[in-house]
Amino acid sequence: MSFWMRRKAIDGASGGHEGHALKKTLSWYHLVALGVGAIVGTGIYTLTGVGAGLAGPGVILSFLIAGAVCACAALCYAELSTMIPASGSAYTYSYVAMGEPVAWVIGWSLILEYTLVCAAVAVGWSAHAQGLFKMIGTPDVLLAGPHAGGIINLPAVIISMAVAGLLALGTRESATVNMVLVVIKIAALAVFVALCLPAFDATHFTPFMPKGFAANPGPDGVKVGVMAAASLIFFAFYGFDAVSTAAEETKNPKRDLTIGIVGSMAACTAIYMIVAAVSIGASRTEVFSASEAPLVFILETLRHPKIAAGVALAAVIALPTVILAFMYGQSRIFFVMARDGLLPRALSRVNARTGTPVLMTLLTGVLAAVLSGLLPLKEIAELANAGTLAAFIAVGASVIVLRLREPERPRVFSTPAWPVVAAGAILGCLYLFASLPAKTQHYFFYAQLIGLAIYFLYGVHRSVLAKGASPR
Ligand code: ALA
Repeated sequence: MSFWMRRKAIDGASGGHEGHALKKTLSWYHLVALGVGAIVGTGIYTLTGVGAGLAGPGVILSFLIAGAVCACAALCYAELSTMIPASGSAYTYSYVAMGEPVAWVIGWSLILEYTLVCAAVAVGWSAHAQGLFKMIGTPDVLLAGPHAGGIINLPAVIISMAVAGLLALGTRESATVNMVLVVIKIAALAVFVALCLPAFDATHFTPFMPKGFAANPGPDGVKVGVMAAASLIFFAFYGFDAVSTAAEETKNPKRDLTIGIVGSMAACTAIYMIVAAVSIGASRTEVFSASEAPLVFILETLRHPKIAAGVALAAVIALPTVILAFMYGQSRIFFVMARDGLLPRALSRVNARTGTPVLMTLLTGVLAAVLSGLLPLKEIAELANAGTLAAFIAVGASVIVLRLREPERPRVFSTPAWPVVAAGAILGCLYLFASLPAKTQHYFFYAQLIGLAIYFLYGVHRSVLAKGASPR
């Protein structure tokens, strides 16, 4: 069979054989916690400021647009993940719907995305941990990458490696610990909102879109406007896709995944809109946009230094859970791709003692450490977004393809108004992709070229489906 004809069968996509299957231990509340744990992070704690700098108060609209596009994608994810309850997320859905080459591109994009998200969150964590590192005498040149006049962002390097180490030792996204951290993150945001409300000034919302709507290059060549901010802020919304990487380990995938994905998405969108609105009401976008820890900065300007320190501490304690969720998701995607023969199995081999893919995890940790140590957050986040947008486009397309090809197949969760929602996900993501900086788009295409070279040199020959084995 030619490689472009290779597709996984829906019924054969779930589960593994020969000791490669994963245990079913998770319920819907684990998934909502996993979702909120992976979604709420650097996006709201740090990128709110960068986004406000790009769009002015119109950043609220950026949140709304990115949230709406993600809601469409989340609905598509819910349909596919309940129909194909197998690990691998968008990669596996694409394999079923559109065949191996598309699946490879999406799997490669996800690997890129997950590694970059870990790096971006590490930089956001570092912004909140600077006070602690200064307290123990860390020189300034070790607190920022070369782009900000330093040598290396050491805190970001340390947290990337520390999380990879924990994961390699067998630390799973422990439901209890994750739940506590989710509560800490949300409580800190709630306190922030409560303290900003008395200082709310509606005049801060005019002019609403000082840099326009569409993403157009500003005086220094950087794209600005509501859409430029949306293409960055989009970062704050994803993570619900990490929930579907746990599909194979879910006790009742049909019900639990629907609640897990749609529920965590809806909750986070509401929280973000409120946090963005009160930030602007309490400060001015041109004032807080310069800060790398804007929520902490706003509380300081409102003369709540102790609570500001508390919010910074909450971020320091809780953001590593986002890194943990994405590093875990990364190892799952890699595992499934290796099981399918598209990547070397040796890399994803599970260590007998810890039960984790140690080599893969440490490799991801080192890569995330190097990226976060040397590059600015905005650039890392935008490249992560490019990979995620590709995955979301594939998910929307997979819904359409499978609806047309297998209309009779029972769907536990049917995306409402699916042609509109799936098209909304695809077109929305394309618009967001077009709004990314040209440099990011170019890097993304170069990364895809490298990926395709690897596929044609390795995966196309080693694929389990190439060997005529039954698809799984
Ligand atoms: N949505 C996640 C964050 O904002 C990636 O950190």
